[in-house]
Parts: sequence; C-alpha cells; structure tokens
Amino acid sequence: MELQDFLHDLNRQIRDQGDWGKVADYIPELGRVAPDQFGIAVALADGKVLEAGQARQGFSIQSISKVFALACVLGRIGEQLWSRVGREPSGDRFDSILLLEQEKGRPRNPFINAGALVVTDELLTGRSPQQALSEVVGFLRQASGDDAIHIDKAVARSEAQTGHRNAALAHYLRSFGNLKNPPDHVIGTYFHQCAIEMDCVQLALAGRVIAGLDCAPALLSPVKQRRINALMMTCGQYDGSGNFAFRVGMPAKSGVGGGLLVIAPGRASIAIWSPGLDGWGNSLAGTLAAERLAEFTGWSVFG
Ligand code: DON
Repeated sequence: MELQDFLHDLNRQIRDQGDWGKVADYIPELGRVAPDQFGIAVALADGKVLEAGQARQGFSIQSISKVFALACVLGRIGEQLWSRVGREPSGDRFDSILLLEQEKGRPRNPFINAGALVVTDELLTGRSPQQALSEVVGFLRQASGDDAIHIDKAVARSEAQTGHRNAALAHYLRSFGNLKNPPDHVIGTYFHQCAIEMDCVQLALAGRVIAGLDCAPALLSPVKQRRINALMMTCGQYDGSGNFAFRVGMPAKSGVGGGLLVIAPGRASIAIWSPGLDGWGNSLAGTLAAERLAEFTGWSVFG
C-alpha cells in the first residue's frame, strides 16, 4: 500500500476507534474544542506533503512551540543555555514544581514548563516581548515557507487568566536567580508563544528543519538538529516519554492543544492533531496514529 492510501485508511481507523480522550480545560479556550477531530500531514524529503483528515484545520500548538523557541535560543547563545536548564527527563508532569526546589531552580529540561520559561526568558534578553515573539513566529514562517502563521490572542488571554501555576513557576525560578526578566513579562510572552496557531500541513513543513530534510530551509545546523531530536525523544512527552519511545520510537513533541510533531530524521516530518488527551496530557488518538504510522513505515529510529 502507498503511504497516501495508508494515511486515508488511518484517518478512517482513528475515527472508528471512538476513544478520543479529554480536551485540556485548564485553558478555558481549549476546553471548548470538540475532542473527536483528527488530522495528519507528512512532509517527505523529496518536498512532497501527504495529508489526510483535518490536516488544514488550525489548532493551538501550545508546548510544540517550545521546540522552536529552543531552536531560536540555541541559535543565539548555543551551549551556554545548559548552565540554566538541564537535559534529563523529569518523570514528572509538565507543570510540576516539585523538582525545582530539590534542584535549586535549575529545571530538568527545556520542555517541562519551568524549563520552557527559562528558554523564553533567554529569548527576551535584550528584546521586547513583541520582538521575542516575532523571532519565534518568524522562524516558523521561514521553516514552513508560510507567512500566514500567527498567534491566537484569545487563547493567550485565556491562559493568562488561569495560568497561576506558570506564574508560580516563574516567580519560583526568579527566587533562585534563574529568571532575568520580570516574571510577568516572561509568562506573558510564554502564553503568546504557546498560543501560536498552525495546521498539520504548516507544522509538518516547519518540522522539516528538525528532521534535516534535503528540501528544508537551512535554519539549523546538523549538531543542533541532533541535540533537539535527542531532547524530543527523551523529554518530548514529559512523564509519558518512555511509553512513547516504546510504542513509536521517534523523537516527538506534544502540546495540550492535541498537536504532535514527530520526526523521522532524514526521512520525514509528521504533524498529527487530535485534541483529546491521555492522562499525561498528550494526544490520545494522535499517539495511536503515530504508533500505526511507525509500524507501517518502519521509521522507528530503533529499527
Ligand atoms: O503552559 C502550559 O500549561 C501550556 N501553555 C502548555 C502546556 C503543554 O502544551 C503541555 N503539553 N502537552
């Protein structure tokens, strides 16, 4: 069977299986999204993009933005970042505050919220929130070749109204001296970064720079691609990362909007969206789709 036929088949299978999980409602605007939706897009090394289901339906990329904020910061300050944030899986929820006290304000990795706040703080160094956000959105536009990518301000406002945990994390980081900018500045910028809206086709195209596809714009050096893929594999789904590596075997990053960016290094960049989440806060049907795609293609990095 051809990959395009498989994707249409997968779309049907996912819609038939009936278990969609629960949408994130701690951000009220996301709580209004219907869970029974699914889309997938696969950008291939030869420049083709295959799609099925609701691949052109925009969604909130949320934590997937952390990958691209990290790419911007690594481009700017490189290895210096690692004095402020670690590179180990946390084994805790994405918004946990627990380890931050034990490890004296140095977050375990750049994908848990505490680590992502440090990355955003670094992005804000010497820049206004507007400039920092333009850098991330600009990176995504260049990587995907699509200038329509934008921030959904209603989602950012919605998270600002209920984002007390992130406010707590930012203030706690600041108490350890690991936040240079005022906490309110950092969380305001972070909420807007998370509220970037994209569809599967745009996200799959943007992910080509991480997959190192021949057709991708040259925005990331091979060593940075390798490092980002390693972090996605070990920390991309938070405390569900081991299970994801076991089932899918590809580096990936999830978001509570139900998006999933999966990387088959050198082969493909895959974006999947289904807004219902599992208990770890990762897309339930999206993970199942990634597992079936990995079985069909043999793209697991473990062979
Ligand atoms: O900070 C938050 O809670 C959200 N803006 C992003 C969290 C997220 O996407 C976690 N991913 N599964």
